Amino acid sequence: MRPDPIAMIPCQRHLFDLPREVAYLNCAYMSPLMHRVVEAGQRGMALKARPWEIAPPDFFARPERARALFAEIIGADAEGVALIPSASYGIALAAANLRPGAGRRILLIEDQFPSNVHVWRRLARESGAEIVTVRRPPDGDLTRAVLGEIDERTALLAAAQCRWTDGALIDLDRVAPALHEVGAALVLDLTQSAGAMRYDAARIDADFVIAATYKWLLGSYSMGFVHIAPRHRDGRPLEETWMGREGAEDFARLVDYRDGYRPGARRFDVGEVANFALLPATIAALEQILDWGVERIEATLAARVATIAERAAGLGFRVSDPALRAGHFLGLGFPGPVPAGLPERLAAERVHVSLRGSSLRVTPHLYNDDADTERLIEVLAAAI
Ligand SMILES: Cc1ncc(COP(=O)(O)O)c(C=O)c1O
Repeated sequence: MRPDPIAMIPCQRHLFDLPREVAYLNCAYMSPLMHRVVEAGQRGMALKARPWEIAPPDFFARPERARALFAEIIGADAEGVALIPSASYGIALAAANLRPGAGRRILLIEDQFPSNVHVWRRLARESGAEIVTVRRPPDGDLTRAVLGEIDERTALLAAAQCRWTDGALIDLDRVAPALHEVGAALVLDLTQSAGAMRYDAARIDADFVIAATYKWLLGSYSMGFVHIAPRHRDGRPLEETWMGREGAEDFARLVDYRDGYRPGARRFDVGEVANFALLPATIAALEQILDWGVERIEATLAARVATIAERAAGLGFRVSDPALRAGHFLGLGFPGPVPAGLPERLAAERVHVSLRGSSLRVTPHLYNDDADTERLIEVLAAAI
């Protein structure tokens, strides 16, 4: 018997503050917030207006809830999750806990997001390791290119599930075992995929998995998560926070300084982890994602992107092989030079996508509908 097809999620535009005239197809830049997320954030901000209503347990309950929700989204254990303010913070944490050794190689991907480059360049300089940048081959198969670079010299690969410029996929089910085989570490920045693409932390067994919340996790800016493998949980945090220490719950005895940390990955939490304004917003967003289900989100977005890809290909745009790109991501190659005045025309039509070099990045979410697709195609048809 064939398994049931995955049920598509109907358009969820009503949950967001999206005017009809705005065709927002730019989730990879930043997602809009749902009404419920804004309201939760406003309630959280208002809490601080009445600090006498904030009790010591309030400092701990919300971080624990957020930890558990992110863990569920990526199929990880909540004990391994720490709360961080940005992807760069999480990647810096990974770099602070990996020692590549002189002459070893740090693998990066061509055109990777800068948050996942600069810190590795510094680590290479300081440790005598060498950066090797994996280029995308002409056939577009980034996975094969990465596999071709992994050998006993490899200390680590810092990459993503799909590339932020064009959605080019790295098949982690093939790459992770190859790294494990040679004892190399895997650091993943899932900012462009967590919440929109399935990820199975238990199966991939990466060393550090990082995601900022303001894109596909539909959360606020300045929030994120890192999942840390058990083998690194005795590691060194970037900050020595009072909340990361044993006994932190007892506010009357905080100056009985304790050397031990609270269990799991809590030592790695950012300072002031009990962010009263942003945590309720983050929790509301993650609960909604889990309610829809990542698998259904992935399938629904893939169907919309496939339609856009087909229509754009009909206009002469180059689209990459769907087997080699993430379902929620589309990079459109112009048939000729980028038409003059295209950004102005898109802005005038209130169609929001990203122009990256000579490629147009189109990244819808559940708030998009067929009318948005039509608007995009109309502007593109008129522009070329
Ligand atoms: C792949 C990727 N990682 C991370 C970020 C954001 O990084 P940070 O949280 O360090 O600002 C972006 C933003 O576009 C991104 O595309």
